[in-house]
Amino acid sequence: MEYVNDPKQYPDLRVNIGSLVLQNPVMTASGTFGYAREFESLVNLHRLGAVIVKGISLHPRRGNPPQRIVETPCGMLNAIGLQNVGVERFISEKMPYLRNLAVPVIVNILGDTVEEYREITERLALIEGIAALEVNISCPNVKRGGVAFGTDPQMARKVTEAVKEVAAVPVMVKLSPNVSDIVAMARAVEDGGADSVSLINTLIGMAIDLKRRRPVLANVIGGLSGPAIKPVALRMVYQVAGAVAIPVIGIGGIDSAEDALEFILAGATAVQIGTANFINPRISEEVVEGIGAYVQDHDLQSIRELIGALEV
Ligand SMILES: Cc1cc2nc3c(=O)[nH]c(=O)nc-3n(C[C@H](O)[C@H](O)[C@H](O)COP(=O)(O)O)c2cc1C
Repeated sequence: MEYVNDPKQYPDLRVNIGSLVLQNPVMTASGTFGYAREFESLVNLHRLGAVIVKGISLHPRRGNPPQRIVETPCGMLNAIGLQNVGVERFISEKMPYLRNLAVPVIVNILGDTVEEYREITERLALIEGIAALEVNISCPNVKRGGVAFGTDPQMARKVTEAVKEVAAVPVMVKLSPNVSDIVAMARAVEDGGADSVSLINTLIGMAIDLKRRRPVLANVIGGLSGPAIKPVALRMVYQVAGAVAIPVIGIGGIDSAEDALEFILAGATAVQIGTANFINPRISEEVVEGIGAYVQDHDLQSIRELIGALEV
């Protein structure tokens, strides 16, 4: 499916993620952009490459108790615990708005068991207006089974296969950085049939309140995101892009066009912007503009010339 508002647009920022053609490579990262509507008065949503909505599970989740977010040097820690309205309310309350956007909507899904991933995918396969699914196999803040899917290549492959069997749209699998061999994880989901792979999710971290002598987060540990994780993300994207044939989507600490371009040079076909939305809700649009200016200033025919063009 092609999502290009104006095919003659210049500069040419279109990218192909398998069968999906995006008008530019900039997406919003799951959990940091709500269900898009919250940002409609702040951002021209139609300028974005795609929006990825907050992770959805089969049943609603209340998430973890507060405090759930803390600022850290160069980033933040969160332990939201995948709070969400569940797939039925997502379909009835969020999809009517989302399907009318002239921008592709990618739905991020999660589950505790392979069966749950399959069931939610089956339910979403009947729904119009979804451009792709992003499968979150790394649920660091959830106490039940989730974590194994993101750290064990066999389990990651099984989840991917189950989703692919019933999905009606392309499937992007989102990887956890909390593993010793990210390439093995990427290869496993590619073998399972993933159409693309996105990385990274948050790194596990913790913060301590010295006055109270307690962990800051009620959950004790949480996921670290923001500029602090960019070098790790860039390294992992570079390694994975060199090892798989499917498109790679880079995520982690991107808060400028320069950051996004670094990921593209390292081999990412597209990028996602997360924590930076909390500082500047317009950041994704600004990154699109900045990438366009770079392509123009460097006399490139298209952004695609830069994908993986890093000289080592
Ligand atoms: C508050 C918050 C909530 C998040 N919720 C989700 C989620 O529901 N599903 C998911 O796959 N990733 C979730 N993430 C991870 C982000 O999508 C992203 O992978 C990560 O934050 C790294 O990118 P960044 O450094 O640009 O934020 C969340 C991140 C934050 C900060």
